[in-house]
Amino acid sequence: MKILVVGGGGREHAIIKKLKENEKVEQIFALPGNGGIAADATCVAIGAKDIPAIVEFAKREQIDFAVVAPDDPLVLGAVDALNAEGIPCFGPRANAAIIEGSKVFSKNLMKKYGIPTARYEVFTEAEKAISYLEDAPIPTVIKADGLALGKGVIIASTREEAVAAVRSMMEDKQFGESGSRIVIEEFLTGPEVSVLAFTDGKVIRPMVSSMDHKRALDHDEGLNTGGMGTVAPNPYYTEEVAQVCMEKIFLPTVAAMNAEGRTFSGCLYFGLMITPDGPKVIEYNCRFGDPETQVVLPLMESDLLTVMMACANGTLADVEVKFSTGSACCVIMASKGYPGKYESGCPLELPADDADGFIYVAGAKREDGKLLSAGGRVLGVTAVADDLGKAIQKAYERVERVGFANGYFRSDIGARAMLALQK
Ligand code: AMP
Ligand code: GLY
Repeated sequence: MKILVVGGGGREHAIIKKLKENEKVEQIFALPGNGGIAADATCVAIGAKDIPAIVEFAKREQIDFAVVAPDDPLVLGAVDALNAEGIPCFGPRANAAIIEGSKVFSKNLMKKYGIPTARYEVFTEAEKAISYLEDAPIPTVIKADGLALGKGVIIASTREEAVAAVRSMMEDKQFGESGSRIVIEEFLTGPEVSVLAFTDGKVIRPMVSSMDHKRALDHDEGLNTGGMGTVAPNPYYTEEVAQVCMEKIFLPTVAAMNAEGRTFSGCLYFGLMITPDGPKVIEYNCRFGDPETQVVLPLMESDLLTVMMACANGTLADVEVKFSTGSACCVIMASKGYPGKYESGCPLELPADDADGFIYVAGAKREDGKLLSAGGRVLGVTAVADDLGKAIQKAYERVERVGFANGYFRSDIGARAMLALQK
């Protein structure tokens, strides 16, 4: 089979490595991929948002199955366009990808169908939002409606900060049109859990849970990033919490999307907070998380291609979705300066993969046969082991063997999870 994967980060590298385990896979194209992914797939210089070029390429190469991984092309309708040409795809159509593409949509969906989430108000005018803030509880959370490269959420710990956030989103258009509508919501507390789930719109099969580390520096300090590391499973996601989530969140979300005529098939990502009142949805994503995928897929025992195809053709109930009982840890190595300004072009030396370790390349280019950094997040260094402590130790041992002079990483990925396990 000829497979096409749209995207070019660490998440896509993890997906590609997993897809390659199926012996029916003859060739994988990554659009655009990156210099590190090139070791595992044929990279083609077509941008992930260039839908006409993606469709044209898929037709020309007679692609048998496509996986659209990033949010932008999904929201822009890449799956609709590929399906229209008869190419089966893993991923939601645009009318379902809106669950990530519009926070106003997802909040209204949760309210309408009684899915637990933070209380909120929607505003389309800055002055109304600002007068609401006069006696809103503080801290408060301000969210731009549309996609904003994961940066459209501001947690304001004073009223002044909240007002400034509203002005920068609605008046200064800090996130472009994404901020022309905003959500102001209640600040929730509790540990966060990411749950990715396969769904064909009828059944939903959660994958092993995970924990992201969003801040740039140790002890959750520094700026918000796309994610500096992950561990799986997440110790806060107990059997009991999982049951509540299935009953109150996962199944109702699938049913709600169907009731709205927006059947979701693909990977539905639940960003959850385990609050004192039970689990609540912080956000939905319409895709695999990054770097959650880099710990979840290495623990998957079932065949990824089989499961993805079952999601696409509505037969997920008939296939097995199984995960190992082990643990995984992924440490992101980023360019110094990320998520602010950073330099690219630093030489990378990678130890080889082995049975319990993988290096996923998130941002790199190949020049004269050499691998060079190209991006903020550069590598995802993953290890799997029987227990979390060992997985963390192995991941850091592997990090020490990476050559990346301009790189930095957090040294406490998984530390909070270990503390939770010891309680
Ligand atoms: P997002 O960009 O939607 O992933 O949000 C970024 C982060 O903001 C989340 O991972 C949470 O840590 C935090 N966050 C978002 N919404 C809330 C909320 N209502 N209460 C507390 N923290 C929140
Ligand atoms: N790691 C968070 C995300 O993929 O949105």
